[in-house]
Amino acid sequence: MSQRYFIETFGCQMNVNDSEKVAGLLRREGYAEAVRAEDADVVFVNTCAVREKAAEKLYHSVGRLRRLKKERKALRVAVGGCVAQLQGKEILERAPGVDVVIGTHNLTALPELLERSRQEGGGPVLELDRKANAFAVEARDVVHSNPVRAFVTVMEGCNHVCSFCVVPRTRGPEVNRTPEEIEAEVRHVVEEGFCEVMLLGQTVNAYRYGGIGFADLLERVHGIGGLRRLRFTTSHPEHVDEGLARAFRDLPKLGGYLHLPVQSGAPRVLADMRRGYTPDEYLDKVRLLRDRRPDLALSTDVIVGYPGETEDEFEHTLRLVEKVGFESIFSFMYSPRPGTTAFRHEDDVPEDTKRRRLHALQRMQQRYQEDRNRARIGQVERVLIDTVDSPGRVSGRTMHFRLVHLDGPADWVGTEQDVEITSAGPNAFRGRLRA
Ligand code: SAM
Ligand code: F3S
Repeated sequence: MSQRYFIETFGCQMNVNDSEKVAGLLRREGYAEAVRAEDADVVFVNTCAVREKAAEKLYHSVGRLRRLKKERKALRVAVGGCVAQLQGKEILERAPGVDVVIGTHNLTALPELLERSRQEGGGPVLELDRKANAFAVEARDVVHSNPVRAFVTVMEGCNHVCSFCVVPRTRGPEVNRTPEEIEAEVRHVVEEGFCEVMLLGQTVNAYRYGGIGFADLLERVHGIGGLRRLRFTTSHPEHVDEGLARAFRDLPKLGGYLHLPVQSGAPRVLADMRRGYTPDEYLDKVRLLRDRRPDLALSTDVIVGYPGETEDEFEHTLRLVEKVGFESIFSFMYSPRPGTTAFRHEDDVPEDTKRRRLHALQRMQQRYQEDRNRARIGQVERVLIDTVDSPGRVSGRTMHFRLVHLDGPADWVGTEQDVEITSAGPNAFRGRLRA
């Protein structure tokens, strides 16, 4: 029987995409997927370092795997992702069950490292070369985790210097792929049957290769026959320009949804975070986008309890969030990360104040989402079905990336249906096929 792998993924879409690449590499070596870690010969833990709690999940996972290893000596445990890149050797010291630690740019080396860890009598091996080619995994090797939506990475790393963020240290400076490579990969996934593509990058709209900017790239990819929906994440407000706003007006496959992290509504906090915009400049970008695309749905990221954040500064954030009217928000309590510039500040907002602010923000947003979503009852939306929820029940996304559940057979996955919205919660809708 062939060897089996199991992958546990924490963190963002880039990590999900990296896990899809790891799955492909292992399949090429003859591995099959295991449903549970208990049945696997190799477990790959893909880690996230963005907040302390996320980073600590690695050690919980590895603790569990170590117990498994006691029963099954041949089991290999490999750790990748941002914590691997950042902590390297420290992981081997803190987590004795780990056999392989592999950096964010070294995925293609995984099969060989696993082999080496077996041959050398089980001694752990480490590979953290950030100069390696991060795009070395071939398109045909990626095992996409969604049956309809394929991720395509357009850039690795980040050139920004946000004071709170560990990503530039874990993923290095920005490296853009050539437009030809990106186009070829999109064509490949469309030929494989995927009808939606999500372009990925830490600051995807900063993409530039030679004379080709992000709006040009969108136009090129948009023209590919067979592609029905085109999305991208994550955008940075500083790189929102006329070209991007026009793309939302002119390219129908883009739909009407954009994730645009704001982080805070207070001028002093944004300046200290080194985000590169003031609250008013953020609002100007929103105005520009909505001027070209009035129905644009926006989501955002917010950090509460950043060092020195006063009650008044938090109020500024509430007012900005209220003003924009976000489709949804991802909100986080500030978590100090070693090696970042904000780490030098005292983490002086008490935990319970952070929690109170987080809840206040979430409550306000929740009320807004409930009211706004209720107003959509009766509307008809074009839904691309991408999931079987349970037998006879499916779900999918509207052009504005709104989640809709409805009754329908599994073979609707990959089709578009006109759905009338019949009820609404804060985060999702129910609907029925339009009569
Ligand atoms: N450009 C990135 C992206 O693709 O979203 C941002 C990196 S991070 C994975 C996503 C979000 O986590 C950020 O927008 C920020 O709101 C939050 N975040 C990052 N560092 C954080 C920290 N130290 N504490 C709390 N939240 C943090
Ligand atoms: Fe992090 Fe800021 Fe880049 S949040 S990923 S340093 S744009």
